[in-house]
Amino acid sequence: MSVQQHYNEWAATYDAVENKTRDLEKNAGQRVLADIAADSIIELGCGTGKNTAWLASKASHVTAIDLSEEMMQKAKEKMQLPNVVFQQFDITQPWSFTQRKADLITCSLILEHIENLEVVFEQVSSYLKENGHFYICELHPCKQYSGSKARFETTDGTQVLECFTHHITDFLTAAAENDLSLVQLNEWFDDDDRSTLPRLISFLFQKRSVS
Ligand SMILES: C[S@@+](CC[C@H](N)C(=O)[O-])C[C@H]1O[C@@H](n2cnc3c(N)ncnc32)[C@H](O)[C@@H]1O
Repeated sequence: MSVQQHYNEWAATYDAVENKTRDLEKNAGQRVLADIAADSIIELGCGTGKNTAWLASKASHVTAIDLSEEMMQKAKEKMQLPNVVFQQFDITQPWSFTQRKADLITCSLILEHIENLEVVFEQVSSYLKENGHFYICELHPCKQYSGSKARFETTDGTQVLECFTHHITDFLTAAAENDLSLVQLNEWFDDDDRSTLPRLISFLFQKRSVS
């Protein structure tokens, strides 16, 4: 089953079932982005809209993108905000969904499903305004090395999604090659317990100005 089909199926329970990764990321994003001003935002992989309304409260315009119609349908049912436009799109394709550059592009828990980071970073860089920010939060590679993958339960049993491991250096190299400077790197632990494996890693990059 493709990632798109899996998320179309997972949409029915994504919000309802306990999910530490989902909940920790919400907290991480709001902490990292609290002081980042952004008039226009592109949210990649908005899913069921966990972060969309909060992002919309910061901006004049949010373009929320997702591959899965069913995940995005859940988001649309939750909010009808005049400054949010939802669009179904595969972000590994050339970004025809927008003409306008953003102040902030966010990407929460999606890159583990995308094999080629370079394709995404190239487009992020070209759709980000100078000095604009790119926020990423993903399952920490340490978790991936220990076997963690996105998964959900159905009546047919556990469904495990196709995932790709990206090392920390893969993110940093893709950023450096696309005019993105690292501003902040954080590791996020369950219950803030730093004696355990970190669950998530987040990066905040900034697009370098040309002059
Ligand atoms: C784990 S969910 C995260 C949703 C939301 N960002 C959150 O944090 O709850 C991953 C989302 O990425 C979307 N996704 C995966 N691959 C994608 C792609 N190539 N283009 C756009 N969205 C994609 C999935 O459909 C899914 O909604």
